Amino acid sequence: MKIIRAKDYKDMSRKAANIISAQVIMKPDAVLGLATGGTPVGTYAQLVEWHKKGDIDFSGVTTINLDEYRGLPRGHKQSYWHFMQVHFFQHINIREDHIFVPDGSNLDKEEACLEYDRIIQRVGGIDLQLLGIGMDGHIGFNEPGEVFKLGTHCVTLTESTIEANMRFFHNREDVPRQAYTMGIQAIMQAGKVLMIVNGEHKAQIIQRAFAGVVTPKIPASILQLHPNFILIGDEAALSKMDM
Ligand code: F6R
Repeated sequence: MKIIRAKDYKDMSRKAANIISAQVIMKPDAVLGLATGGTPVGTYAQLVEWHKKGDIDFSGVTTINLDEYRGLPRGHKQSYWHFMQVHFFQHINIREDHIFVPDGSNLDKEEACLEYDRIIQRVGGIDLQLLGIGMDGHIGFNEPGEVFKLGTHCVTLTESTIEANMRFFHNREDVPRQAYTMGIQAIMQAGKVLMIVNGEHKAQIIQRAFAGVVTPKIPASILQLHPNFILIGDEAALSKMDM
C-alpha cells in the first residue's frame, strides 16, 4: 500500500489525474475502472483539461464503471451513466461503445449482474481502478457485511449511504434503495487500484480501513492486500493515519 499525501482537494485531483494519464499514455487501450460521487469530479475535470490541450487521447480506452442504481435508466438525471457523461465522457474522445456502466434499467438482478461480469471478462479485466470510499467503508456499493461478495451483485443500500447520497436528489424518498455494483474480485484483480479521499469526515474510516484489520465489515480494508494499491488523501482525510 502506497500512501500519497496531497495538500488539498485540487492537489489530490491533479495527482490522481497524473497517475490515470500515465496509465493511458503507457497503454493507450487501457481499461479504466471508474467511480462516481463527489470525490472524483476534480480528477475528471483535470483529465478533461489535459485532453483538451492535446495531452491525453482516450480513443483506445475502455471504461467500466463501478455501479449504477437499480431502476434508473441511462437517461435519468441521477443515473451514474448520466453523471459520467456530464463530468467526463461528453468532454473526451472516448468511443461510446467502449463505455460500460451496469444496466440500471434491467430489473432482472441475476441477468444484469451476470451480464456485467461477462463484460468485465470480455474486456480482459481492469488495468487501473479508481475508487472513492463511503463513510461506512464501502467501495463501489460493496456495503459492510459478513462476507466479501466477489461478483457483480445487487445491494440494498445502507441508511448511511442513502443519507450520504441524498444531496444528489430532491428528497430522501427519491434515493433508489438498490444498486448494482461490481464485486470485490474484479476490483482486487485490477492491475492497479487508486483510491482518492478528501475531508476530515473521511479521516476515521480511512484509519479503520487501512490501519486496522482486514474485514468485510469494512469492505475497503481488503485493499491492504492488493499488491499495487495507492491511496491519495488530502491532509484532513489522512490526519488519523500514523505515518
Ligand atoms: C461511486 C462509488 C462510491 C463512492 C463513495 C464515496 O461510484 O462507487 O463507492 O466512491 O460513496 O462517495 P463520495 O466521493 O461522494 O464521497
